[in-house]
Amino acid sequence: MNGSEPSHAEACGTTAPPPRAPTETRVHAILATELRSGLAELPVLSQAVGEVMAILQERELDYERIIATAETDPALSARLISFANSPIHFRQMKVSSVRSALVRLGPQAASEALFIAICSSVFQVPKFREHVEQIFRHSVVVARLAAHMASLCGYNARAVFLAGLMHDAGRCVCLNVAAHGTLKNEPLNEETERDLFAAIDDLHTAAGAKLAADWHLPAEVGEACRWHHEPSTYQHARLVHIADMIAHHAEDPESIDAEQIVAGFAGTLLDEHILMELVESAPKHLATVAAL
Ligand SMILES: [Fe+2]
Ligand SMILES: [Fe+2]
Repeated sequence: MNGSEPSHAEACGTTAPPPRAPTETRVHAILATELRSGLAELPVLSQAVGEVMAILQERELDYERIIATAETDPALSARLISFANSPIHFRQMKVSSVRSALVRLGPQAASEALFIAICSSVFQVPKFREHVEQIFRHSVVVARLAAHMASLCGYNARAVFLAGLMHDAGRCVCLNVAAHGTLKNEPLNEETERDLFAAIDDLHTAAGAKLAADWHLPAEVGEACRWHHEPSTYQHARLVHIADMIAHHAEDPESIDAEQIVAGFAGTLLDEHILMELVESAPKHLATVAAL
């Protein structure tokens, strides 16, 4: 057929309209306006949680200060204790105090648990529970992979873990706005849902960066939220970008090819073998996160 000739469907006027760019939809406009205007009900950090977050930024962890501060926040204490009693960490007897929870977890899992407990308010949007739980599992896998890469590169693994954990927090912020703002009364039919998730794909990076700024998180966390979808010159964002792709491969091997990931990043920060090991370790992380 000549390139300039219309197809049969075009000639008959039956061509499906081209998909709309997410920025052209009404749902996108509403979501963008409500995020910008500050109508979003952003989760807030309690004073105790903010203090624990600040202690976790220090090079040497002061567990006595962490325990003393965490114990003043019943919700944080409860989350830490339940984390230590989860199937993956359970050892014969249940723990019932913050101190015994942190002792059982050990240094690395304890700092993971503290970050997860602190950030858990982000991952609570009852109307979109399944989506948010999926984002949570994905975020923990990204955090673990990125932190592992950071330790191999000699960076601060704890800081990178937080950046990985928060990288898609903007998705939850957007879902929160959709659950409580103008869109709350919209029937979630196929078209609205498609427009909503396309809008979230577009808006979640800025929404996450704003949340990181509101929570006074280190600049690197905001950078990772803002730039994790592109190869960035920001170190944390770059590690999170690679970890994000590895996690997507583990979640859906069809979505992105492992060799493409390895070939794309080998030599820039890590060598080919280490990248392949990370790709192979990702399903194990995914399985353990499901048990949290
Ligand atoms: Fe993302
Ligand atoms: Fe992600």
